[in-house]
Amino acid sequence: MSLRYPLRDFHMDIFSCDVLVVGGGGAGLRAAIAAADAQPTLKIGVVSKVYPMRSHTVSAEGGAAAVIKTGDSLDEHAYDTISGGDWLSDQDAVEVFVREAPTEMLQMEHWGCPWNREPDGHVAVRPFGGMKVQRTWFAADKTGFHMLHTLFQTSLKYEQIQRFDEYFVTTLLVDEGRCEGVVAIELATGRVVAIAAKAVILCTGGCGKVFPFTTNASIKNGDGMALAYRAGVPLKDMEFVQYHPTGLPFTGILITEAARAEGGWMLNKDGYRYLQDYDLGKPEPKPVLRSMELGPRDRLSQAFVKEQEKGRTFEGPYGHYVHLDVRHLGQKLIDKKLPFVRELCLKYVNLDPVREMIPVRPVVHYMMGGVHTDINGATSLSGLYAAGEVACVSINGANRLGSNSLTELLVFGARAGRAAAAFTAEAPDASSSVATQAHDEEAHLERRFRQRDSVRSGETERIATLRTEMQGVMEQSAGIYRSAPTLEQGAAQLQSLQERLTRVGVDDRSYTFNTEITSLLELSYMLDLAEGIVHAALARTESRGSHQRTDHPDRDDQRFLAHSMVHRTSSGQPRIEYSPVTITRWPPGKRVYGR
Ligand code: FUM
Repeated sequence: MSLRYPLRDFHMDIFSCDVLVVGGGGAGLRAAIAAADAQPTLKIGVVSKVYPMRSHTVSAEGGAAAVIKTGDSLDEHAYDTISGGDWLSDQDAVEVFVREAPTEMLQMEHWGCPWNREPDGHVAVRPFGGMKVQRTWFAADKTGFHMLHTLFQTSLKYEQIQRFDEYFVTTLLVDEGRCEGVVAIELATGRVVAIAAKAVILCTGGCGKVFPFTTNASIKNGDGMALAYRAGVPLKDMEFVQYHPTGLPFTGILITEAARAEGGWMLNKDGYRYLQDYDLGKPEPKPVLRSMELGPRDRLSQAFVKEQEKGRTFEGPYGHYVHLDVRHLGQKLIDKKLPFVRELCLKYVNLDPVREMIPVRPVVHYMMGGVHTDINGATSLSGLYAAGEVACVSINGANRLGSNSLTELLVFGARAGRAAAAFTAEAPDASSSVATQAHDEEAHLERRFRQRDSVRSGETERIATLRTEMQGVMEQSAGIYRSAPTLEQGAAQLQSLQERLTRVGVDDRSYTFNTEITSLLELSYMLDLAEGIVHAALARTESRGSHQRTDHPDRDDQRFLAHSMVHRTSSGQPRIEYSPVTITRWPPGKRVYGR
């Protein structure tokens, strides 16, 4: 089946489909499958800047949460999620999430996902951070790899799903308040194409790369967030940035929370399990030794900073770190349940965790915020949907619990796919302005990137310099702890980086896999988002979850039991507004995670 047809006699190719999914990771593939199942006659496109199996879902390790065992309940899962999120989660969304999670996980099982088993054949679950009950399904410590494989192979069964692999989206096509598709660069050839669609679903993941140390792949530049933001859609709760307490220094590679779930210990430079000295949210005066390592990620990352301040961390070439010790778990368990941890340590730090302790430090892992959507993934722009990390529904509130995000991409990917499919029934075909807009975008890209050197004098800035500076600014101003002075300085520095961005020169004018051009586009996306994060963090004068203000250390429900909404003004600067949090059954209370 070919979806190609020229709308006008341009040299540009204009493809057309009913539902276009941007992003070929877990959320994107789940959305595409759901749309195809909902309306089998629809033409569905999946456009991705990488081959789908290279999407970041592939690197998820520890597992995916859903109620399956007796002794657990949907209400317990909901409560853990809401309490872990410091009451910023929308509770109607959480209720939908926990209710649909088991169905989605069983669906994955039926599509062939190789979940770990108990000896009696039942699905196995492991404990995970901030969850009172064991409910995290897993496939060793390569859960994302197996889930993405399962979704990808399932998607291949659907003839109506056409992929545009290695196409980089540069803008949304918007006319009369409706999203009508995208413009993209085919990376292999450099040709610019338009893909018209009645509905577009953004599934492009988060933007961890705005920070210097992150578990995120280099592709996670917040493309979808920036595309929506530039099209006038607000970004929600951007100040909430999750640090994962155990990343490898230097590379930021994730050492899964499953290592602690299986019994790993966090030790400071004195070999002391320092987490017992901190309030991790357990009701007991001190956390019991067995489970303290499984406190919520925000609290563990904050405890690391305090240890560093007390001089009880190691200092290495890539900054401060502590130890994660799994030696006492033994080789048999490590090889069975944590084989990837061993593989990563051997390959990237040249040590064997069976015999040696692993150096770890907090690293940026996940954006709780993202494109503002309703519980069906719909944004404020007609025809535009979002699901997965790119979106903020919001179930994660001020701090996501580990293993909720893989399930989230299934539940809300499927919901967005079905909603977008239903939307197409009422939606007219793309307007004639699609071709004109796409042509304008092509001309703009040509002018910006391919004009002769002589025309482009004054381009003295380099992409790598600006990116490194931006990442440094973010760590300094909006890291684990923030304050008005650091954030104000960060905002000013980012504004100056935006200005310098216009003077970045491009040396490579070729049309084949021109990564210089895509890196520059990604940098421009990231700078917009960095500004959104810093401005939202500055405006929220309280501490909640992952957002810790040293100058406002307490949670302030009177003023800030509210989602921040970052709007892009005509000058390009962010403007912050607030919208209420939906509370259904769990009034705000103290965060606890232990029984
Ligand atoms: O540590 C981990 O395996 C991460 C899981 C998650 O972020 O959900």
